[in-house]
Amino acid sequence: MMTASFYDTKPYDREHLLAAPGADRVAWRFHEFRLNAETAATAAGADSVCAFVNDALDRPCLEVLAAHGVRHVALRCAGFNNVDLAAADACGIAITRVPAYSPHAVAEHTVALLLTLNRRIHRAHNRVREFNFSLAGLVGFDLHGKTVGIVGTGKIGRCAAAIFRGFGCRVVAHDPYPDDIWAAECGIAYLPLPDLLEAADVVSLHLPLTPESHHLLDTATLNRMKPGAYLINTSRGKLIDTGALLDCLKSGRLGGVCLDVYEEEEGIFFEDHSDRGLDDDDLARLLGFPNVLVTSHQAFLTREALGEIARVTVGNILAAARRDWLPGTLLTT
Ligand code: NAI
Repeated sequence: MMTASFYDTKPYDREHLLAAPGADRVAWRFHEFRLNAETAATAAGADSVCAFVNDALDRPCLEVLAAHGVRHVALRCAGFNNVDLAAADACGIAITRVPAYSPHAVAEHTVALLLTLNRRIHRAHNRVREFNFSLAGLVGFDLHGKTVGIVGTGKIGRCAAAIFRGFGCRVVAHDPYPDDIWAAECGIAYLPLPDLLEAADVVSLHLPLTPESHHLLDTATLNRMKPGAYLINTSRGKLIDTGALLDCLKSGRLGGVCLDVYEEEEGIFFEDHSDRGLDDDDLARLLGFPNVLVTSHQAFLTREALGEIARVTVGNILAAARRDWLPGTLLTT
């Protein structure tokens, strides 16, 4: 029987995990708190730990895990910007992830955010519930014929591009590793980032957070965007410099901003703060703009995605003794 400590547990995680094939062969220890250097000792005696996007797998945390005998971290997400891979290697800890669970889930949420904000669906819903059937202030724009810039044409970026093409949009893209065959098949032009920002009515981010992409959108790049353009980020919060974004919003330069992720989301997203209020002034300011729509890192949250995350995560935890990981999931060497 393998033992696994599971951090930042939510009811939907537990439900899908326990239904996954082989889950009954693991002794689960579910923790609601997040994993970091201070909490890592709770993993003592576990073969694997299971972590999510806002757990802090930095060197101090990994050293505590290693000192308590942990040899495997199963990330139940695709992004791994929160893990010090070199430190994991040095500690002899294997890191696995779920490289693709449902790119459709994230791409569909991207488009849902855009449609909601552009067509003011959230405001209309609130109005009609109070029997206010006025249309004043609800004017949006046709997506058909607009130019959408996809930054990062991996699994999610390609799904998003396909959906936008279905709306009759012209899609342009930027990626340091362009796939010219895919682009030619789909009639999509790759552009340098500054050209994409200048051309696009909607810019959607689908790239990983790396040292190179940190604050990819800062004052200089945001000011390259078309006046009135929409920006969507369903990837990682730190891709955008929040201070620069707030300046853009205050000046009225951007038409709309849709965020499923936020630079300082750790400790805020996934939790109910309704009885305490927010102590993050930048997020509170963002939420005050009528042309900003924020969701709490939920783009992945579909039944299909949760089922696949659970299947791959349980598979790797069961494989940990043999160190024979599911194909394509191992991040460390
Ligand atoms: P992927 O690895 O399939 O594709 C990423 C693409 O970004 C690659 O083509 C890569 O070449 C490109 N890229 C890397 N650096 C770039 C740069 N500086 N500029 C432009 N493109 C760059 O990854 P996938 O599955 O499409 O996921 C993308 C990101 O979405 C993940 O890294 C993760 O941060 C985020 N994500 C968010 C979720 C949510 O619930 N909000 C859920 C899953 C992923």
